[in-house]
Amino acid sequence: DAGDAAKGENEFKKCKACHMIQAPDGTDVVKGGKTGPNLYGVVGRKAGTAEGFKYSDALTKLGEAGEVWTQEDLEAYITDPNKYVEDKVGDKTLKTKMTFKMAKNQPDVVAFLAKNSPD
Ligand code: HEM
Repeated sequence: DAGDAAKGENEFKKCKACHMIQAPDGTDVVKGGKTGPNLYGVVGRKAGTAEGFKYSDALTKLGEAGEVWTQEDLEAYITDPNKYVEDKVGDKTLKTKMTFKMAKNQPDVVAFLAKNSPD
């Protein structure tokens, strides 16, 4: 099912301790922490490539393996980041720096990310 971006905006409260959503012109869509990368434009972006963020080898290798984030992929990634990378890259030793797992309402938060990913 397609998610509900309005509900997802509220769900994003769980993410903003670590992630901001900031447009290229500097507009803060959501003010947030810097532990994780800026999520503006993440749908359609290659994994591990937000400007200025130092990623783990896990996310860098995921991008090198060809991952360009779709909404479906993002729903799976935020459910279990380490499992996602392990399944896609095929290396159990790779660990992401994202320790958070989202157990429900993933489609809503991803719909909100899509809304902030203009093409
Ligand atoms: C990476 C989404 C919660 C810390 C990412 C990425 C996405 C994402 C899509 C990959 C971005 C890219 O490839 O550029 C979310 C969403 C969250 C959430 C939607 C809430 C539902 C959190 C929380 C933390 C966190 C709470 C901190 C406790 C990180 C870090 C990375 C990351 C450190 C980089 C991972 C690495 O380099 O291995 N997140 N995140 N995230 N996130 Fe989150």
